[in-house]
Amino acid sequence: CHVFLKKLPCAFKELAIKNVRRCHASQGMFAGYWGPIFRSRCLFTLRGSRQGVSHDAGVTVSTSESVGQNDLLIVGPGVLGRIVAEKWRQEHPDCKIYGQTATTDHHSELTKIGIIPSLKGPRVDQKVPYVIFCAPPYRTDDYPGDLRVAASNWSGEGSFLFTSSTAVYDCNDNGFCGEDSPCVPIGMSPRTDVLLKAENVVLEAGGCALRLAGLYKKDQGPHVFWLSKGTVDARPDLIISMIHYEDAASLGIAIMKRRLRGRVFVGCDNQPLSRQEIMDRVNRSGKFDGKFEGFTGTDGPLGKRMDNSKTRAEIGWEPKYPSFTEFLGLSN
Ligand SMILES: NC(=O)c1ccc[n+]([C@@H]2O[C@H](COP(=O)([O-])OP(=O)(O)OC[C@H]3O[C@@H](n4cnc5c(N)ncnc54)[C@H](OP(=O)(O)O)[C@@H]3O)[C@@H](O)[C@H]2O)c1
Repeated sequence: CHVFLKKLPCAFKELAIKNVRRCHASQGMFAGYWGPIFRSRCLFTLRGSRQGVSHDAGVTVSTSESVGQNDLLIVGPGVLGRIVAEKWRQEHPDCKIYGQTATTDHHSELTKIGIIPSLKGPRVDQKVPYVIFCAPPYRTDDYPGDLRVAASNWSGEGSFLFTSSTAVYDCNDNGFCGEDSPCVPIGMSPRTDVLLKAENVVLEAGGCALRLAGLYKKDQGPHVFWLSKGTVDARPDLIISMIHYEDAASLGIAIMKRRLRGRVFVGCDNQPLSRQEIMDRVNRSGKFDGKFEGFTGTDGPLGKRMDNSKTRAEIGWEPKYPSFTEFLGLSN
């Protein structure tokens, strides 16, 4: 550390000395012990000091533009993207995580959690070895074009992953669907067209697509929306496949770590439920304010029962929340 300090330009020396002191102090009972954990933390802080750092809410963000082998670009660091960032940082504490957004509205929030924000677009500096695109399709006129730009920011090392949707599967009779089930043909629905065209951009660039079922967490998902309405004019027997946000993030990361090329995977919990079953469980759990009264619809298309056994076997992944029921603390 002291040799390092001597080499530092004056302007950074004071900051670095403070960091070293804080580093020593924060080791508590380990102060003076130059074990591997302490040493790596100390050097990381110093390296950050040489490159310029911002300390916000305890998170150290390096602003250097040199590319690290585990640096990650998250296009669309919203709910899922931020969970991915948190998990990725746990595995790669010294990586840089960039976040590209549609607006500057959340840039200060992102900086606080250690994500270096910018608006979406081509990176004028270096490409990044890991890119995950997890922005939804409804805030852009050219979703496939946005994926093309994201692909141009990928160095071709690591992984490029696009979080697509199981909506692309051509099934609306509550039937079973797996990774290889047929997709809605192009030209049949603008909603699925946009997703499939975006997937094609990704696959052609050597990236992978992860088709996610309905995402939920306690305060987000269809159950929250229906609960806020009380009564909903929709048929109760439509089957919905789901996956918890945390599990979608852990699966995305597991896929990225495999560095596969041009592959399609599915993310779901393999325990699909009807709308009615979802809301019965919400009422029964006692974990929510208010009571859901019911669904009043009688017609319209049904849903699908997604199964991702193939993805699980290949990636070696299992969800933390095996079902919405167990997530609520109820027995299955
Ligand atoms: N929700 C579901 O049930 C579901 C189901 C299947 C698949 N998915 C997919 O899962 C992914 C994650 O969903 P989520 O709920 O975490 O999304 P989210 O929270 O709505 O994502 C919002 C983030 O995306 C940014 N953004 C929006 N459009 C963008 C664009 N065209 N380019 C760059 N950034 C853009 C927003 O920027 P600002 O900060 O400027 O707002 C914000 O950072 C998405 O790809 C979604 O399509 C979701």
